[in-house]
Amino acid sequence: MMNFAHSTNDAIQLDRVVFIGRTLSEYVKLFDLDLSQWQKSQILDCPAGAASFVAEAQEMGIDALAGDILFNLDEGTLRAKGQADLVHMLERLAEVTHNYNWDCYQNIAQLNEYRQTALERFLADYPDGRQAGRYVQTTLPKLPFSDRSFDLVLSGHFLFLYGDCFDYAFHWQTILELYRVCSQEVRIYPIQGKDAQPYPFLNNLINDLNHAEISVEIVNVPWEFLKGSNQILRLWRA
Ligand SMILES: C[S@@+](CC[C@H](N)C(=O)[O-])C[C@H]1O[C@@H](n2cnc3c(N)ncnc32)[C@H](O)[C@@H]1O
Repeated sequence: MMNFAHSTNDAIQLDRVVFIGRTLSEYVKLFDLDLSQWQKSQILDCPAGAASFVAEAQEMGIDALAGDILFNLDEGTLRAKGQADLVHMLERLAEVTHNYNWDCYQNIAQLNEYRQTALERFLADYPDGRQAGRYVQTTLPKLPFSDRSFDLVLSGHFLFLYGDCFDYAFHWQTILELYRVCSQEVRIYPIQGKDAQPYPFLNNLINDLNHAEISVEIVNVPWEFLKGSNQILRLWRA
């Protein structure tokens, strides 16, 4: 179920799931990643949006794959959507700057630079990377990958963040699917909604994961741009 009605609180008022993304250096902080641990691993980033994590990881010799519902589109279409969604996000964020910690980025101009850098690095890799199978169209809550095909699965700025737009069943099915394709760990960031409040069904979710005998914990990370968002949900296999 999707619902993009304006919320009554002062959450950022996005009218869609935006196609924007972060750089590898931002991923390292928000997922608390020690990439030296994952050098010989296969990593899935889903949904990746316009993040440059996979492009940059590839340059470092790390085997990484990006999935997104929009990866059936060509580079030019994604460039136009990425630019339009970035403008939309920055305009709406300017209305609620008090919800964010400005020690992560100095100001909106610097935030824009980071997002533009990610978009350009992603786009530079996308045409060849798509041919090579590094960018795959994926429509959650299903993934076109076999069981345990990735060591580490990263999922940023989608689940929980858009918790007002996708229902609990979608979250549950998506998380089970991310777990199905992982052999070691899944990390999901953030665990707050756009209103900076914790995902309201987080306790239900943790109970349901416990009942399914899936190991889960909340872990602090060294990143808190949206106030309160300094935690990931970590699932792992023993
Ligand atoms: C904000 S972006 C992800 C950003 C990136 N992970 C990061 O942290 O920088 C959210 C992405 O979710 C994608 N998306 C929306 N619905 C989806 C679905 N059902 N399955 C897969 N991707 C989806 C959108 O196309 C968009 O690119």
